[in-house]
Amino acid sequence: MSNPSLLILPGDGIGPEVMAEVRRVIDWFGDKRGLKFDVSEDLVGGSAYDAHGTPLTDETMAKAQEVDAVLLGAVGGPKYDVLDFSVKPERGLLRLRKEMDLYANLRPAQCFDALADFSSLKKDVVAGLDIVIVRELTSGIYFGEPRGIIEEGNERVGINTQRYTESEIDRVARSAFELAMRRGKKLCSMEKANVMESGILWREVVTEVGKEYPEVELSHMYADAGAMQLCRWPKQFDVIVTDNLFGDLLSDAAAMLTGSLGMLPSASLGAPMANGRPKALYEPVHGSAPDIAGQGKANPIACILSFAMALRYSFDKGDEATRLEQAIENVLAKGYRTADLLGEEGKQPVSTSEMGTAILEALDESL
Ligand code: NAD
Ligand code: IPM
Ligand code: MN
Repeated sequence: MSNPSLLILPGDGIGPEVMAEVRRVIDWFGDKRGLKFDVSEDLVGGSAYDAHGTPLTDETMAKAQEVDAVLLGAVGGPKYDVLDFSVKPERGLLRLRKEMDLYANLRPAQCFDALADFSSLKKDVVAGLDIVIVRELTSGIYFGEPRGIIEEGNERVGINTQRYTESEIDRVARSAFELAMRRGKKLCSMEKANVMESGILWREVVTEVGKEYPEVELSHMYADAGAMQLCRWPKQFDVIVTDNLFGDLLSDAAAMLTGSLGMLPSASLGAPMANGRPKALYEPVHGSAPDIAGQGKANPIACILSFAMALRYSFDKGDEATRLEQAIENVLAKGYRTADLLGEEGKQPVSTSEMGTAILEALDESL
């Protein structure tokens, strides 16, 4: 049987830096656990624009559709701010999500014990935190029509449309209920049904789907109140399901509960493929971090944890995913910190590759 296939798209800024550490981890699993992957690498975002004049070529798009899983670093950067909207790096990522139909974006926020002191929130608020935000990823205001900047009278108007069909809400709700069933059986749905029709429909459909999951305790919250509750007492949540834009904002906020944006992985999942596994793209929640790019300062953990999610969701290797997560936990417990995990403490941080090396050593110790 051939090896499972992985397409790696490092992207821009710190993307290639953190992905280099993921490649070492992938090699480790090949060498030490006999888990071999057929890995190919390609361009996305600004790097693809530089080479081909487009943030994602049709060839790369076709490859992404064929492989068992895609791993993406990050896209974007100030260099590309001047580009026309249609070829901006971010459009490459959005095209991947849309054409692969990756409607359920799982963004876990887990606070490792060793970092509980480091969060900007009090230790007892975040210690032991383990929640997942399920963000709808292929619709809503990111993709709704009409959109654009038009002339109206003597001024311009910027237009975006929040639009959700019942079936789009239904399928992401199902993903969230299924996840809740495998976890703490609690689901909180967030929208703004008080001011948006799409929110009213969202609440109705989620409630309807919930009737098929009587074991799951379903609650609803307005997304603004949800943001407040995430900061006040995040441990009240287990799984949160929300739309594309609210999910983008809430997951960045949730990142700070874990200590750093450099810690948050994600899995973007679509419908099952012929082999029964979901179509999938794994990517850290963070961006290309232009402020630290090229300096060896980036935290590779979010990207490495994204590979752990790939092991679990695309390759049915939950045990190996746990091994990797445990290795990261051990490294943090030993005090290894990239600069983002040190704040103003003035201690000497480890570099991106030193963090990678420490994780490989912890993996060796797990054998
Ligand atoms: P960002 O996530 O790149 O950075 C926000 C802050 O977090 C910065 O101070 C950065 O240094 C820090 N940070 C992020 N990841 C880190 C890591 N792994 N280690 C240490 N520190 C880290 O967000 P931004 O600055 O708003 O956006 C920069 C560019 O990235 C923009 O072009 C944006 O569109 C793009 N972006 C891409 C993605 C993606 O590819 N998935 C996600 C978010 C933003
Ligand atoms: C994210 C990012 C993306 C988004 C951008 C880069 C398109 O912020 O993955 O959270 O807004 O979805
Ligand atoms: Mn975001």
